Amino acid sequence: MSEPTVIVENLDVVYQVRGRSGPGSPISALRRMVLRRARPSKREVHAVKNVSFTAYQGQAIGLIGTNGSGKSTLLRTIAGLQPARRGRVLTRGQPSFLGVNAALMRDLTGERNVVLGCLAMGMTPAETRAKYQEIVDFSGINDKGDFISLPMRTYSSGMAARLRFAIAAAKTHDVLIIDEALTTGDARFQKRSEDRVRELRRQAGTVFLVSHANKSIRDTCERTIWLESGEIRLDGPTDEVVDAYEAYTRKR
Ligand SMILES: Nc1ncnc2c1ncn2[C@@H]1O[C@H](COP(=O)(O)OP(=O)(O)OP(=O)(O)O)[C@@H](O)[C@H]1O
Ligand SMILES: [Mg+2]
Repeated sequence: MSEPTVIVENLDVVYQVRGRSGPGSPISALRRMVLRRARPSKREVHAVKNVSFTAYQGQAIGLIGTNGSGKSTLLRTIAGLQPARRGRVLTRGQPSFLGVNAALMRDLTGERNVVLGCLAMGMTPAETRAKYQEIVDFSGINDKGDFISLPMRTYSSGMAARLRFAIAAAKTHDVLIIDEALTTGDARFQKRSEDRVRELRRQAGTVFLVSHANKSIRDTCERTIWLESGEIRLDGPTDEVVDAYEAYTRKR
């Protein structure tokens, strides 16, 4: 067995939603008056419930589940962006999180974002210069003209996602977390990024991929975890898990 890269033990993540949210229904207002209770000003959302698993070097792990099942929350917690209420996460190195909201600067050009992104990932200026063209080529941003010298705010959402992915994929990561970034590009780019995920995996890292495109998961990951209501429903070989998930979503 290869070395573990991520160990998650009995993880619980709870969001606290503060502040009063709207007027509420007249019935609940009446109830509170009768029972003489104050309006609850703090609510909790239990987004991840007692999740445990271990990821190994060289694995690409798919994460599936219906909307709101806790996928992004789990990955944000693994990346250290979201605190846990209980349990713990051990990782080798700092996981890199590539989400649809990854921070690129809208008012800077694509070019500046590539450079800043590389530096932010810890590359030296020389490494950044060496990788620059490869990133631009991979993103395909300049296929239809000189778009890389325009501000990011002029990009379509697919173009922005492609550039984000190209920047993140330029580096080898111990743990790379991709939250739906692949599904934003067009078919050709999707294919290219799936190839790159397989490559990153070969370079001995671990890749987590969240996608609602079951085909991407089947093509890229050999292991899949299915989350539902914050709990692990199944964790195993991708085909088994995705088959079970598809049967479940067909019934709903
Ligand atoms: N910032 C937040 N504050 C409060 N609750 C949140 C917050 N972010 C997510 N949640 C809640 O946590 C639960 C899990 O959300 P999460 O975004 O992890 O789901 P997901 O599986 O990534 O969904 P999707 O497939 O739609 O991306 C949901 O019930 C959601 O309402
Ligand atoms: Mg999500």
